[in-house]
Amino acid sequence: MIQVLDKSFEEFITRDEIDRKIQSLGKTLNETYAGKEVVFLAVLNGAFMFASDLMKQVDLSCEISFVKMSSYQGTKTTGKVEELIGLNTDIRNKHVIIIEDIVDTGHTIDKILSLLDGKDAASVSVCTLLYKPDAFTGESKPEFVGFSIPNAFVVGYGLDYDEKGRNLDAIYQIREAN
Ligand code: IMP
Repeated sequence: MIQVLDKSFEEFITRDEIDRKIQSLGKTLNETYAGKEVVFLAVLNGAFMFASDLMKQVDLSCEISFVKMSSYQGTKTTGKVEELIGLNTDIRNKHVIIIEDIVDTGHTIDKILSLLDGKDAASVSVCTLLYKPDAFTGESKPEFVGFSIPNAFVVGYGLDYDEKGRNLDAIYQIREAN
């Protein structure tokens, strides 16, 4: 059991299980995208660790760009505006794979997909380490999933609780009696 700020967590997915899963995800991507030009878009902050380990298992002709969703107050009529920052590579005619740490409600991924619409990518898909099917209300399910997990809060391996816990090398689940 570990403590992050005021909450306690239990080990849920070990470093070893993560390693093995990433090897198999890498193999799947290598087979699916063989011979294609690929651009990985790693979504910050949470996906940095997963992206780094996944990239090492990939032997494709590929680039990586680190992107972030940012929101700001637009005009009165546009309200809150969300945009994708950090996309510094041309994705025209390339196969885009979005790398996420977790897909929860699916809101973030839907937003990113709609912001990439019209940029003429050859294809766009989502590779996420974790997926919470019971929380998902989005439009398109992630194509490549490491682990489908119950709808309970997790930290570690890039994922945070109030910005803490990203450095943990395994994934920990919140304890019920918190
Ligand atoms: P969405 O609900 O799919 O849009 O996910 C939004 C974001 O919430 C994710 O990218 C994560 O940063 C965060 N998130 C969702 N579930 C968890 C969790 O269990 N632990 C830590 N962060 C989470």
